[in-house]
Amino acid sequence: MKAALSFALFGATSALAAKSLSSVQRITNLPTVPNKFIVEVTEASNIPSKRDVGTPHEQLYRSLAERKISFDVHKEYDAPGIFVGAALTLANAQDVASILKTEGVVAIRPIRSYPRPVPVSSKTCAPGDAGLPDSESTHITTGVDKLHAKGITGKGIQIGILDTGIDYTHPSLGGGFGAGFKVAGGYDLVGDAYTGANAPVPDSDPLDQCAGHGTHVAGIIGANPGNEFNISGVAYDSTIYAYRIFGCDGSVNDDVIVDGLLRGVKDGADILTLSLGGSDGWTEGTGSVVSSRIAASGKIVTIAAGNEGASGSWFTSSPGNGIDTISVASSDNTVIPLQSLTVDGVTHDPIVYYDTFPLAINETLPLYATSNDTTIVDDACNGTLPDSTPDLSGFVVLVRRGSCAFVDKLANIAAFGAKTALIYELSVLTGSLNGNGFAGIEVGNFSAVLIQAEDGVFLGQQLAAGKSIKVTFPQSGAGVQFPSTTGGLVSTFTTYGPTNDFYFKPAITAPGGDILSTYPIPLGTWRLDSGTSMATPFLAGSAALYLSVKGKTPSVAKGARTVFQATSKPISSSLTDGDPFQTVTQQGAGLVQVYDAIFGTTLLSRTELILNDTAHFTGPQKFTVKNAGKTAKSYTLSHVPAGTAVTIDAGSILPALGPVPLSTSYASVKFNSNKFILSPGQSHDVVATITPPAGIDATTFPVYSGFIHVTSGAESVHATYLGLAASVKDKQVVDNTDIVFGITIPALLDSTGNVQDAPINYTFVGEDAPTVLWRQAFGTPLLRLDLVPANTSFTPTLNKRTPISFVTKKGGSFAQVSTVGALLEQPYLGRNDEGDLSQNTLVLTNTFANGTVIPNGSYKVLLRALRVTGDATKEADYESWLSPIFGIAA
Ligand SMILES: *[C@@H]1O[C@H](CO)[C@@H](O)[C@H](O)[C@H]1NC(C)=O
Ligand SMILES: *[C@@H]1O[C@H](CO)[C@@H](O)[C@H](O)[C@H]1NC(C)=O
Ligand SMILES: *[C@@H]1O[C@H](CO)[C@@H](O)[C@H](O)[C@H]1NC(C)=O
Ligand SMILES: *[C@@H]1O[C@H](CO)[C@@H](O)[C@H](O)[C@H]1NC(C)=O
Ligand SMILES: *[C@@H]1O[C@H](CO)[C@@H](O)[C@H](O)[C@H]1NC(C)=O
Ligand SMILES: *[C@@H]1O[C@H](CO)[C@@H](O)[C@H](O)[C@H]1NC(C)=O
Ligand SMILES: *[C@@H]1O[C@H](CO)[C@@H](O)[C@H](O)[C@H]1NC(C)=O
Ligand SMILES: *[C@@H]1O[C@H](CO)[C@@H](O)[C@H](O)[C@H]1NC(C)=O
Ligand SMILES: *[C@@H]1O[C@H](CO)[C@@H](O)[C@H](O)[C@H]1NC(C)=O
Repeated sequence: MKAALSFALFGATSALAAKSLSSVQRITNLPTVPNKFIVEVTEASNIPSKRDVGTPHEQLYRSLAERKISFDVHKEYDAPGIFVGAALTLANAQDVASILKTEGVVAIRPIRSYPRPVPVSSKTCAPGDAGLPDSESTHITTGVDKLHAKGITGKGIQIGILDTGIDYTHPSLGGGFGAGFKVAGGYDLVGDAYTGANAPVPDSDPLDQCAGHGTHVAGIIGANPGNEFNISGVAYDSTIYAYRIFGCDGSVNDDVIVDGLLRGVKDGADILTLSLGGSDGWTEGTGSVVSSRIAASGKIVTIAAGNEGASGSWFTSSPGNGIDTISVASSDNTVIPLQSLTVDGVTHDPIVYYDTFPLAINETLPLYATSNDTTIVDDACNGTLPDSTPDLSGFVVLVRRGSCAFVDKLANIAAFGAKTALIYELSVLTGSLNGNGFAGIEVGNFSAVLIQAEDGVFLGQQLAAGKSIKVTFPQSGAGVQFPSTTGGLVSTFTTYGPTNDFYFKPAITAPGGDILSTYPIPLGTWRLDSGTSMATPFLAGSAALYLSVKGKTPSVAKGARTVFQATSKPISSSLTDGDPFQTVTQQGAGLVQVYDAIFGTTLLSRTELILNDTAHFTGPQKFTVKNAGKTAKSYTLSHVPAGTAVTIDAGSILPALGPVPLSTSYASVKFNSNKFILSPGQSHDVVATITPPAGIDATTFPVYSGFIHVTSGAESVHATYLGLAASVKDKQVVDNTDIVFGITIPALLDSTGNVQDAPINYTFVGEDAPTVLWRQAFGTPLLRLDLVPANTSFTPTLNKRTPISFVTKKGGSFAQVSTVGALLEQPYLGRNDEGDLSQNTLVLTNTFANGTVIPNGSYKVLLRALRVTGDATKEADYESWLSPIFGIAA
């Protein structure tokens, strides 16, 4: 997944830019890998009478052969108790139904592909670099420093990292590989050249000196203290196993992830951590299912929540969607490492500018202001610079923000030779200093940084007064710890939940913004990165500290998520007093507090109180509070709501983009008793009756959430609740608007990529084939494309101009619709990305999905998508669309 700079400007606008139809490539574009599946089979021990007929795998292959199913095996899995099965390529994808009916087959799931984690920040760090984050701030905000002070450093705990591999030659990662070293084991499952589209070439050495991501992750867990940056990993005495599942470029597929996970289990991992994923919104993918099974078997599995916060709600990432895994959100560091410049000619403190690393300017340069009026509104905008403006190439140019785009101002001064600019914030006139935010700015190819309003006004006024000012950008020693305006908040890039089946993702938050860690030596040795990729190993390290104190038994591991959630610290949505807490759909239970998780003495039996939607409302929630301390405690219960996430734009069927708007219509909570006293060892059952917020627009699919605090003196733990104030089955799943393309979709595109209106006959020679174009406005448990006769009497729900939701349901059965044959079937399809406006396409061929040639004739395509929680056997629970008539004339 993408890592993001913590200071990147994530737009708060939800205006959707239309996308041109001509940008749609005429290729099949679906999240799954064509014809590749993972089949799960019953374990040998569960088929008692058939021990003599070979392994479960042999039985599977024999049954498939008997059914004349043509397949290739490319991976076998044999982890009894967790997962037994095989990754297959089928000649006919349509054989899936037949395989499912085979005796001993438990499930068959498509293989999906996950993009590699790509860091956005591109600067490596050298020991001379100043302005790096406080080496200990993330440890201090989570109590890890106090654990280190007690000598709790993760000794004896084995952590498997599935990533790009590790540069274990790094001195802070132990300098070697194998028994006795910090990176004591692992495997390269793929080889340098693996891209996700070719065959892996495994070997025994997980060294990575070409990608880097896994080395950064490893340092967050395990960097030895005493290095030139004075940082340390969260659990630096733990033992690391490196599973390399990415090559130097490209993506990774489920079959490799599952292999890596099972290998980790076999090698004895106590914790497995994956800083990777792809949004799909469902708990059902193979990677998610296997991760969850491993967690349920008594290991801790931490997985990144994803960096797709800008795309809005219901966009959770797999394999972190695995029900029993811990999906990790990111919080911003409390300080931003910024740089400062010094001035000559006037007396002023060093001036902070918004960049993590020094501008690469060695010379001391004179400063020139494009205007002597520091209240000017259109400084350096088009047409404002006089011809008499001097050659600016030898200057640093001071420009005031406002009226036109940064790049226009910069292009205008560049026309006079300017190479570097300081842009100062608006102030004075608007009455509020730095009103538009002191932040990173988009300046394209230009070299320009923002400085604060008061500094810009000072410099401008001094120049106007005739002072001659020179500026220097020190290349080291000029870093400052600038208090972050988002410090401690959930990083805006964190992906929002919940899953479509209403699971609690993300589960918890850990620091992931502006994290300094190790990097492969050939790629720079140290690096500053941001992302849930960085938060995830922080939690894996925290889990190692926990297991090292509590004992690494399956029951301790299984209870860890609950303890971490109970003791975490809920995070506000802003630093302004009175603003609501951030929605649980982005922060989970709050920021992890590792010391409290280990030494707290109040235990909760459950911490995820999932109320589900209005149609499946789970009613009163019960959990037990136990006093595990040595003295009697008097407890008080209290309810603190979080902001209600308005997940769908009002009047639209499309998700609201991030930051997702928060409503202050809250749920209300009543308890069986608000106060109780517990002696040591005693327990109390809490019954919390949670009433969803009233008077809130159900068509915005509001997800309400909040915290039930159990407080005794200074000690406070909480359970976290989550519910939907609407029925999810009312949520339209197929986009039938013209918002994205300016034309109504779904649509059938002709061989030139234009919408087919009148009937066309296709020859299926070369490019002469139609393409089905559609978008998922919401996830669907089942999508089907079938071929139907041109004169079908079927009435679809979507072609009519129906209201956006609540289509009138008629009786009838899914099986009664007469079809010619299946073209595509996709289980658990996620929604499309509203951030980058993705779409699904299927280029038709003249064969059915099973490879049988379709007879020439006139047809329509019938697209059907099941609504979430709908009944797959009921036609009325599907949305449907019929294409115009097209002919097959092959
Ligand atoms: C290194 O970190 C420790 C705390 O872990 C701190 O006491 C010390 O001052 C730091 N040293 C430097 C050079 O920053
Ligand atoms: C600045 O000076 C350093 C050290 O002399 C040199 O390595 C670097 O290339 C110079 N940078 C620029 C932008 O001139
Ligand atoms: C300024 O000029 C540039 C280049 O001609 C143009 O792209 C831009 O739109 C103009 N900006 C405004 C605000 O008119
Ligand atoms: C940036 O500048 C370089 C050199 O002038 C040029 O080759 C490149 O195309 C520019 N890139 C963009 C995005 O404008
Ligand atoms: C600003 O004032 C100074 C001092 O009078 C003068 O040298 C300079 O040319 C003026 N700059 C502009 C852009 O008018
Ligand atoms: C919510 O309800 C739906 C429909 O019964 C169910 O499929 C889903 O698993 C439930 N979610 C949770 C987290 O229990
Ligand atoms: C398509 O082919 C059929 C059968 O050959 C023919 O009847 C029909 O007129 C053709 N339609 C078009 C639009 O060419
Ligand atoms: C469609 O056409 C076929 C063949 O001409 C005919 O048998 C069938 O009854 C028609 N179906 C409908 C619903 O009109
Ligand atoms: C493929 O599907 C078509 C349409 O359902 C069916 O008529 C045909 O018999 C199937 N072919 C095989 C080999 O199963």
